Amino acid sequence: MFKKKRILTGDNPTGRLHLGHYVGSLENRVRLQNDYETFILVADMHAYAYPKYVGEPDIVSKSVIDVTVDNLAVGLDPEKSTIFVESAIPEIYELGIIFSMLTSHARVLRNPTLKEEIKVKEMGDNYSLGFVNFPLLQVADILCVRADLVPVGEDQLPHLELTNEVVRKFNGTYGLTFEEIEPMIGRVKRLVGLDGNAKMTKSLGNTIYLSEDRESLKKKVMSMYTDPNRLRASDPGKVDGNPVFIYHDAFNQNEEEVKELKDRYVKGKVGDVEVKEKLFVALDEFLTPIRERHSYYEGHRDEVRDILRSGTDKTRNIVQGTLDDVKSKMMLFGI
Ligand code: TRP
Repeated sequence: MFKKKRILTGDNPTGRLHLGHYVGSLENRVRLQNDYETFILVADMHAYAYPKYVGEPDIVSKSVIDVTVDNLAVGLDPEKSTIFVESAIPEIYELGIIFSMLTSHARVLRNPTLKEEIKVKEMGDNYSLGFVNFPLLQVADILCVRADLVPVGEDQLPHLELTNEVVRKFNGTYGLTFEEIEPMIGRVKRLVGLDGNAKMTKSLGNTIYLSEDRESLKKKVMSMYTDPNRLRASDPGKVDGNPVFIYHDAFNQNEEEVKELKDRYVKGKVGDVEVKEKLFVALDEFLTPIRERHSYYEGHRDEVRDILRSGTDKTRNIVQGTLDDVKSKMMLFGI
């Protein structure tokens, strides 16, 4: 029988999801859920890799539900996609420990995303052993269901490279067990923040959330950064690298309107206010169906918990099969 290929991807439950998550990964999940057997992970153990969240179990546990609601709100269909909670499947940690035995410490520390996070999050040398190990926990997340395709934002690529190194190492050492995975990057590689910062991220406060209400959306859009060198509406402006136009390109369905605005902008024939007002309308239109599903699931939190419970049960079954295979290949008999 023809077997559908598998997708695995997921999010750390450390707050609500935003437009950066959407263009990086969520959009691909929704688009591909009909063609792939899709698994969405809520990576709550990953959250504790960050010193900042170690003492914040309330935030993490609340975010498990919030992140699930966000995934459902963008259109993941629980009949088609399986959403599960990482911490409820201890077999994932067993795999993580095993994979950590196959990887050198120096190799993990060469990971550019890890290095950047240490710098940006100002961890100094206070990061935990668990933090260094989190890419291997992520490898376990991916391989535990034997995923084929992993849709992620660009910053996650080093972890997917590591995944394939672990696949080769495991297969080379214990015999063919895993297939290499294929990364899939979003249509916008990295969405800039409202302030023009290279990345939209909660820690910089430059985000638009998928659950953003109309009023605060308007406020945020109207205060966005534009071309810093343009002082008057009659000055010719720069479109390239201008956050307002990056967002128009990413979210405004009306290509004619975007083109016309750009034409007028470079000639100094349109003010920032008009460009932003049109962006607000486009984003509001984009968010409207998401908000509707959002308010449905917010009002049915028990249903959300049931979705997570049955998704976790189904996934755990599969993961136990993978772990059995791994243990028998390694002649770990568990007796
Ligand atoms: N590390 C990812 C992030 O920061 C979340 C994540 C955890 C993940 N495990 C994963 C993504 C497995 C893809 C596959 O967004």
